[in-house]
Amino acid sequence: MMIRVVEASDLLEVLQIEYAVFKFPYPPDLVNFLYANYRETFLVADIGGIKGFLIAIYDEEEGHILSIAVKDDCRDLGIGKALMGHIMSFLREQAVPLVRLEVRKGNARAISFYESMGFRRTEHLPDYYEDGEAAYVMIKHIR
Ligand SMILES: CC(C)(COP(=O)(O)OP(=O)(O)OC[C@H]1O[C@@H](n2cnc3c(N)ncnc32)[C@H](O)[C@@H]1OP(=O)(O)O)[C@@H](O)C(=O)NCCC(=O)NCCS
Repeated sequence: MMIRVVEASDLLEVLQIEYAVFKFPYPPDLVNFLYANYRETFLVADIGGIKGFLIAIYDEEEGHILSIAVKDDCRDLGIGKALMGHIMSFLREQAVPLVRLEVRKGNARAISFYESMGFRRTEHLPDYYEDGEAAYVMIKHIR
């Protein structure tokens, strides 16, 4: 499996996955902005086409996973775990001490996915999403 940094020619496939998977997808302008400004932490899983992606940002205090998605017919094959493994190694190399993310309270699958990678729930953020659903903040210390 090839996990690599995104290229301009991948963005259409990334957006197709984003729109297929999320009820409130990131608009193309935001995805383009993240590509232009945070390319080294914008990863794709390329397995004869883009099957998943992960977008993160970071500073010296923390890494923040903004989005991760795997095509629905490619789930449970280890693609999500491989994307997370790559970003965690990269952030560790940058001496980032902790990684944070938000997840919908009702997204049990994603919550177990993150827990399987050592993330723990910390805060509960009521009304976090556009439709009023709450989020859990999950964090993992990596140093
Ligand atoms: C969350 C998501 C990225 C996981 O990607 P994936 O490629 O299917 O996950 P993997 O195959 O790498 O699974 C890794 C681990 O997650 C857990 N996991 C995966 N699918 C699971 C499921 N259906 N139920 C419970 N745990 C699951 C397992 O512990 C698994 O570890 P194992 O393979 O050692 O058993 C994917 O399901 C997805 O795109 N979901 C929709 C988008 C989404 O919800 N994104 C997160 C928003 S915060």
